[in-house]
Amino acid sequence: MNEQVPVTQDAAIPAAKPVKAMPDAQIVKSVKHWTDRLFSFRVTRPASLRFRSGEFVMIGLMGDPDPKTGKQKPLLRAYSIASPSWDEELEFYSIKVQDGPLTSKLQHIQPGDELILRPKPVGTLVHDALLPGKRVYFFATGTGIAPFASLIRDPETYEKFDEVILTHTCREVAELEYGRQLVESLEEDPLIGEMIEGKLKYYPTTTREESPVMGRITEHLKSGELFERLGVPPLNPETDRAMICGSMGLNKDITAILEESGMREGANSEPKEFVVEKAFVG
Ligand code: A2P
Repeated sequence: MNEQVPVTQDAAIPAAKPVKAMPDAQIVKSVKHWTDRLFSFRVTRPASLRFRSGEFVMIGLMGDPDPKTGKQKPLLRAYSIASPSWDEELEFYSIKVQDGPLTSKLQHIQPGDELILRPKPVGTLVHDALLPGKRVYFFATGTGIAPFASLIRDPETYEKFDEVILTHTCREVAELEYGRQLVESLEEDPLIGEMIEGKLKYYPTTTREESPVMGRITEHLKSGELFERLGVPPLNPETDRAMICGSMGLNKDITAILEESGMREGANSEPKEFVVEKAFVG
């Protein structure tokens, strides 16, 4: 059938193109608020985005219009991708800062909203930056657990190491919940559960609220309590590898402890015994 479209005045006007309000826009799929200071969210993944578990990307929203020019600029921050590289969506875990330029707005995102995501993943917390070893430690505080949420879901982590030790230190018990639920869900997962069985050891501690294991992870390393509780030998540069992601203080203090044990800081171009994420601001 010849479907002739009558030419009317309207038809002469070019149809409006569907415009994305923001460059590099992705769509928010789900949001979960963990505490009044913490939330996680999942967004669509650009089809072309390839990344290594542990890397970060720049994400954000459009800023307020400039009072003089009326122009809007994107407000972007580095966020570790918390989902594994095989996941079809991307997950992020964030703090909410009430007067923070980005997170004061970002905390209000809803499913269906647009989020800017620059598809250029980078970062130092990647397997390529570590020499082969027997045991890997992932040391996190606060939202610094995000890159490790990716790495503990990556089969490569368990192919490369016999033991994977995730430590997470937070002020309060509720702040451990994102990590605790993730580890629990992995243990119950029929596929990943088998892969991590007997390999993944989770070591959560709190510093300002009562919980089964209390204190800064740095103190547990110095006193040997961590090794005792986990039944592993003290740090050994021959067998142990580590990744660190947390506050500046944590990064500095764990670095000193690892270096004292003979471990050296590596990079993508020069793999060694441990790596630190310096772009992270927790
Ligand atoms: P603490 O309560 O003793 O300061 P923050 O919320 O300040 O980023 O801290 C998150 C967690 O990291 C808290 O439990 C905090 O312990 C801990 N922490 C902060 N700095 C260090 C550090 N230099 N070494 C070890 N743990 C630290």
